[in-house]
Amino acid sequence: MRVLVTGIAGFIGSTTARALLDRGIDVVGIDVFSDYYDTEIKRRNIAALPQQRLTVIEGDLNALPLSEVLVGVDAVIHLAGQPGVRGSWGTQFDSYTRNNVEATQKLLEAARGSSSLRRFVFGSSSSVYGQATSYPTSEDTLTRPYSPYGVTKLAGEHLTTLYRENFGLPTVSFRFFTVYGPRQRPDMAFSRFFGAARQGEPITVYGDGLQIRDFTYVDDIVAALVAAIDADGELPPVMNLSGGSSVTVLEILDLVEKTTGMALNLTYLPAMDGDVTRTGGSATLVASALGWSPLVDIQEGLQRQFDWAQGR
Ligand code: NAD
Ligand code: UGA
Repeated sequence: MRVLVTGIAGFIGSTTARALLDRGIDVVGIDVFSDYYDTEIKRRNIAALPQQRLTVIEGDLNALPLSEVLVGVDAVIHLAGQPGVRGSWGTQFDSYTRNNVEATQKLLEAARGSSSLRRFVFGSSSSVYGQATSYPTSEDTLTRPYSPYGVTKLAGEHLTTLYRENFGLPTVSFRFFTVYGPRQRPDMAFSRFFGAARQGEPITVYGDGLQIRDFTYVDDIVAALVAAIDADGELPPVMNLSGGSSVTVLEILDLVEKTTGMALNLTYLPAMDGDVTRTGGSATLVASALGWSPLVDIQEGLQRQFDWAQGR
């Protein structure tokens, strides 16, 4: 089996590639090594992978000859994109449309012409729901993004589904709920909290810290991606991947304090534009379609991320 992983140098992409390589699967990876965060981190993510059966193509999905790359590929796991809710305003939006919408359309066009492809998996986001109208939020809840980022993820998801409907491409989009664990992006909350605790620097809380997130451990996300490429037959077009941890940022900070054994110094800033007050997904659909449920709870997952960060 040969799998194309886009965004392979990133947090979720590199973790996914490791799981596939460990299963003896041939992996082709694409990444442009964007400078959204330190590219050295991305180089290290790639260098740490078992290199046998791995091919990494450095380039932009918008420019690469994707039809050629897809020859002989059985499944695509499309994780390349411009992440980050709070930075998606102003002139940054160009990067979001280019990397989340245009790049996805180009990949889907190429995938449409492939004779070998059995599954196309798109990494969508809980941000498509915005301030959700019900909890736990199920897939048929009104999508009403609250950030420009969410708009581009919803566009990518719609594109993915319409290639399925028009051309029979065997797609599935997973809406990931705030993912954490080893190799988490440095701009995300837990990375920042552990980093600040270690340096003895103040931790910035956006808003009152009472916003709730359904944090999801990265290995649980990867298990669902692997299950989707293993599965035969049709899958629902869109499924939530939510970890079941309905906790506030302040509760997380309590856990961080316990995990690190350090007294935290908190400073508060106004809530960030685009930041929703609550996410909480229903994982009922993915449980019935793939038998998936999250295995790692927030305490265990935080400890694992801390241990990993300590060892770097
Ligand atoms: P990441 O930034 O660590 O990884 C994304 C990778 O994609 C980066 O290495 C980047 O260089 C690459 N990339 C960006 N544009 C590209 C292009 N045009 N061509 C080739 N490569 C390109 O981010 P992540 O946290 O690993 O997220 C992976 C995917 O999952 C993203 O699509 C993101 O929107 C989605 N997602 C992430 C989370 C989360 O909590 N981390 C939650 C929901 C959805
Ligand atoms: C995350 C990812 O960054 C997005 O790419 C993804 O699409 C989204 O999850 C999702 O679930 O769809 P976010 O929930 O903002 O977005 O994740 P974090 O960056 O880990 O932030 C979690 C919470 O902590 C937010 O409310 C944020 O405001 C807060 N936070 C973050 C702080 O209070 N201080 C910080 O320094 C960082």
